[in-house]
Amino acid sequence: MEQKRSGFTGKLGFVLAAAGSAVGLGNIWRFPYLAAKYGGGMFLLVYIILAVTFGFALMVAEIAIGRKTQLSAISAFSKLNKKFSFLGYVASIVPVIILPYYSVIGGWVTKYLAAFCSGQTAQAAQDDYFGNFISSTGEPILYFAIFLGLTALVVLFGVEKGIEKVSKFMMPVLVVLSVGIAIYSACLPGALDGVVYYIKPDFSKFSITTVVAAMGQLFYSMSLAMGIMITYGSYMKKDVSIESSTRQISLFDTGIAFFAGLMIIPAVFSFSGGDESALGQGPGLMFVTLPKVFNSMAGGNIIGAVFFLLVLLAALTSSISLMETIVSIFIDKFKIKRIPACLAVLAVSVALGLVSTLGYGIWSEVKIIGMQFLDFFDFISNSVIMPIVALITCIVVGYVIKPKAIIEEVETGNVKFKAKKLFVVMIKYIAPICILVILASSVLGAFGVISI
Ligand code: TRP
Repeated sequence: MEQKRSGFTGKLGFVLAAAGSAVGLGNIWRFPYLAAKYGGGMFLLVYIILAVTFGFALMVAEIAIGRKTQLSAISAFSKLNKKFSFLGYVASIVPVIILPYYSVIGGWVTKYLAAFCSGQTAQAAQDDYFGNFISSTGEPILYFAIFLGLTALVVLFGVEKGIEKVSKFMMPVLVVLSVGIAIYSACLPGALDGVVYYIKPDFSKFSITTVVAAMGQLFYSMSLAMGIMITYGSYMKKDVSIESSTRQISLFDTGIAFFAGLMIIPAVFSFSGGDESALGQGPGLMFVTLPKVFNSMAGGNIIGAVFFLLVLLAALTSSISLMETIVSIFIDKFKIKRIPACLAVLAVSVALGLVSTLGYGIWSEVKIIGMQFLDFFDFISNSVIMPIVALITCIVVGYVIKPKAIIEEVETGNVKFKAKKLFVVMIKYIAPICILVILASSVLGAFGVISI
């Protein structure tokens, strides 16, 4: 089964495919609300430092493991070392947890697209529009079903290629549009304070929570610590440089997140004077803020509709890739056919997704360790399981197969590994220690043992 893997044709194909999976709601929806909440410029700085050191090392390691073993996550770790087969399984749980709530947020995006298409810009810009929407019962479920249904249709009929083509063409449009909206936002009255808040690190805002949040976001946004990049690596040609591909993917991913923040955070200052509760509102931030921006601009109706359409496409390519990952694991491990595998994944996602939507509505009283369901799923995957996977990956690479194995893979075909020293130090010492500290503080914090 592992002879001929169909591969990406060249570096550009690889980088675009990996970036297509990486760029999604994580960049546009999740990054801005975390940055707003956890100290603006301080969060941005911590995120960028983590991305170029730790994120870089982990992504190189994952891609190299994939290309070296020519296998996807579950089998790749057992091929490296039998004792670590469990790691592939643990990594595989992550997409199962993410897909359902990802689809709930995807549903919110669909709802806003529908609102802008039907000319409800002014209503969508009202303060209570978002709150009323997510706390109702029927509508969020309907839009969640539409989003998940679209994802499942594509995966069921195996037409990802078509979607990928569309999205490759749309992605540059999304970038241009985001930059345009970001510039517009930054010029709104009172927005300049927001630009300063977002760009200038305020060291008094530094805390361990900032680092915990930034690291979780790094995993999420770059699709790390869940075996995805291992799979992508297994399709990569031997003569393509892993190091420079990694640099390009992270630059692209971080760039989009940066502009998304610039679209949203200055606008929060403009519309609410940057008061704490507006900045700290969490998952709703983009949905509350952007309609106000669109409502204030000429032709905002159309720009808003185009924007939400592009975000929807970016979200769909990610959800399709998430679902495809889970489906192929089900096919391989349970030896079932594609259709039953899709249906099984769909059933699990419907169940967990329903819980997530209702958690914002009629079940809002129900809390798990003080969190609503959606926030809990987000927490358990990003702040617990992914750091564990990342930590053990560092141990496997640093001490079991040794960094040399990865370095050799990166250097195949006489490609020089420029950041070799950084890679070794990160993987062996800095990353594992940092993750351990972060993991401990986020778990203890969640259970209220320490306050972070
Ligand atoms: N990185 C994606 C985003 O930013 C989300 C994501 C996490 C993902 N893991 C994934 C997408 C695996 C595809 C495959 O939105």
